[in-house]
Amino acid sequence: MPNRLDLPSDFRWGASTAAYQIEGAVDEDGRGPSVWDVFAARPGAVRDGHTGAVACDHYHRYPEDVALMQGLGLDGYRFSIAWPRIRPTGAGGTNPAGLDFYDRLVDALLEAGITPLPTLFHWDLPQALEDEGGWLNRDSAHRFAEYTAVVADRLGDRVPAWITLNEPFVHMVYGYALGIHAPGRALLLDALPAAHHQLLGHGLAAAVLRERGLQVMIANNLTPVRPATEDPADVEAATAYDALHNRLFTDPLLLGQYPDLSAFGLDEDLGGTVRPGDLKLISGPGLDGLGVNYYNPTRIAAPTDPGLPFSEAPIEGVPRTAFGWPVVPDGLRELLVGLHDRYGAALPPVTVTENGCSVADTPAPDGTVDDPDRISYLAGHLDALAAAVAQGVDVRGYFTWSLLDNYEWAEGYHQRFGLVHVDFETQRRTPKASYAWYRDLIAAHRALQDG
Ligand code: FCB
Repeated sequence: MPNRLDLPSDFRWGASTAAYQIEGAVDEDGRGPSVWDVFAARPGAVRDGHTGAVACDHYHRYPEDVALMQGLGLDGYRFSIAWPRIRPTGAGGTNPAGLDFYDRLVDALLEAGITPLPTLFHWDLPQALEDEGGWLNRDSAHRFAEYTAVVADRLGDRVPAWITLNEPFVHMVYGYALGIHAPGRALLLDALPAAHHQLLGHGLAAAVLRERGLQVMIANNLTPVRPATEDPADVEAATAYDALHNRLFTDPLLLGQYPDLSAFGLDEDLGGTVRPGDLKLISGPGLDGLGVNYYNPTRIAAPTDPGLPFSEAPIEGVPRTAFGWPVVPDGLRELLVGLHDRYGAALPPVTVTENGCSVADTPAPDGTVDDPDRISYLAGHLDALAAAVAQGVDVRGYFTWSLLDNYEWAEGYHQRFGLVHVDFETQRRTPKASYAWYRDLIAAHRALQDG
């Protein structure tokens, strides 16, 4: 069995974060309000009323955080750029202080020998755009491309590859269909235009990046979908769910078409949302890389609620993270091999842009944080990744979620995903045992390749 040390010599090791989850400084240096500031302030929206107002205070402490990355020996760091820092009202009016922050961060990373991999949109839409309908409004796609041009013009001389969107599926479902995340809209299937407009935004932004000679990626949340039983009703439900979660956000990019969504009562133009030429824009000349965010597989059964063509069934007999998510490392191999089988030559090189787990970490009296569950989660998933590579999938890198414990959206500060423990009272950073483990793995992989 291949294992994580067998990964190719040019394999890139990284870690990921997102702006609203770590930066804090929400009112500083001209940043405008985002949908997350507004949503988190709503009573009952986030567990214990937590907000990202301070988060990890990374806006001020980024030199310390870059030093932590350097200590790990990372090749790359995936972070996101807060659109409302660059364009406080989403359109027009660029805020130079916002650009300056990312300029400093990029330079600090390069000085530490780390390649920056920015994500342009990780869910923190400027509130002013939400007031105009957010991603339900087609204009947001154009505003996104304009913002992309401003950022690329400033950082494109030092940043080769860019991720346009983070998890448009999760953003559509949690933000617009169920209202669990910002902007907190519960439109159920009427949320579908938010899928198309995000993808259109991707396509327009991708063209802006390509015009500047930059590489384009997207980070999709993908899951291998397993029917609960072999009963044809469960299999049919699993096919419908796979179309919604995986294919809706990947087929248009790689194949230039939407999947069959008839199980949801939708036709090819998603109820009049898709205009002629859109799919050509979305697929463009293709992606330079597909970012895959993987946490767990999904088990699907025949519908129980008349409004949806599927229901979710629990995955039994496996460990669970502190968040309650099932731990199934081989699901990552299954997912990657499944993408390779499904898309063949249309699949660009893959990078795992997120993978990790929440653990209820608490420092011991001597101050150390031992997190064996995270180490075993990471080891299992990296071995599964190596198995997928051995089966022929071109995977170029692994970015773990996350560098730091941070603001986990609707869960506030309750879920800890970091390799580094953060005391949110004092902002003290303490590398956990998993930090040392990841550092040693990266070093061992390099030593093998060099030797
Ligand atoms: C992903 C998000 C990321 C983080 C992890 C745990 O869906 O992209 O911001 O919250 O989940």
